[in-house]
Amino acid sequence: MDSKRLNEEGRLLWNRKAEFWDDLFGDWGNQFHRRLVEPSLLQLLQLKAGETVLDVGCGNGVLARRLALLGARVTACDFSEEMLRLARARGGREIDYRQIDATDEEALAQLGEGQFDAITCSMALMDIPEIEPLFCAGRRLLRPDGRFIFATMHPAFNSNNPIFIHEKEDRDGIVSESFAVKLHAYLDMPPVLGAGAPGEPSPHYYYHRPLGELLRPAFRAGFLLDGLLEPAFAAEDASDGGRLSWTEFAQIPPVLTCRLRPG
Ligand SMILES: C[S@@+](CC[C@H](N)C(=O)[O-])C[C@H]1O[C@@H](n2cnc3c(N)ncnc32)[C@H](O)[C@@H]1O
Repeated sequence: MDSKRLNEEGRLLWNRKAEFWDDLFGDWGNQFHRRLVEPSLLQLLQLKAGETVLDVGCGNGVLARRLALLGARVTACDFSEEMLRLARARGGREIDYRQIDATDEEALAQLGEGQFDAITCSMALMDIPEIEPLFCAGRRLLRPDGRFIFATMHPAFNSNNPIFIHEKEDRDGIVSESFAVKLHAYLDMPPVLGAGAPGEPSPHYYYHRPLGELLRPAFRAGFLLDGLLEPAFAAEDASDGGRLSWTEFAQIPPVLTCRLRPG
């Protein structure tokens, strides 16, 4: 399937599971968002009240609402009309929600060249088949001293269908447990269907990009990388039962968060 058809199929899938996603995230997000994604985005953003921010791939508006609460003037866009309907239903009348496809550079640029202090993109790049148009549009939309901050599934550990391993060992009477991830591929991977959050009604395509492939389109668009975080859960987040989820992996970051600035 070519990338236009994959993108259109993605829109239909996101429409279909918008209600599930909105229930899962509620107003302020699930544990993964609250503990890892949002703090790392806000740390790199260093938002000042009154700044204009564009949130791309806004989903049910979880980050847009936070940014508005912190005093930003927020425009938020997504290509899924169902996601936008649910985002609007959650309130935040001051947020300007728009239906825009992030693979359409001109549609994004029409939001106003040089109008934004910051662009955020929270956990959406890995769902978008072509990311260069977004970086090119971002470069046009930002003021010269603006910044583009994105969080995505960490390419090295969490975007290539990692296998979780839980080992228990009794050595000399001492029982110890350890967790690891095993990868089969990193460099070349076609789009893969992934189940997303546990219980999601339908899988959708993930576009794994090794670090170079993720950042090169941003560099080509004229951005420099000037901030990077790799948030992981803390040891206290681990469950007693040792369930196989990211909360057990205090040493392996499932998220990569980057700040780009116009070069
Ligand atoms: C995993 S959700 C993340 C939502 C939200 N940013 C968050 O942090 O909860 C990915 C979002 O990206 C949107 N998306 C995927 N491809 C897109 C595209 N080509 N243009 C605009 N939005 C897109 C989906 O509709 C979905 O709302």
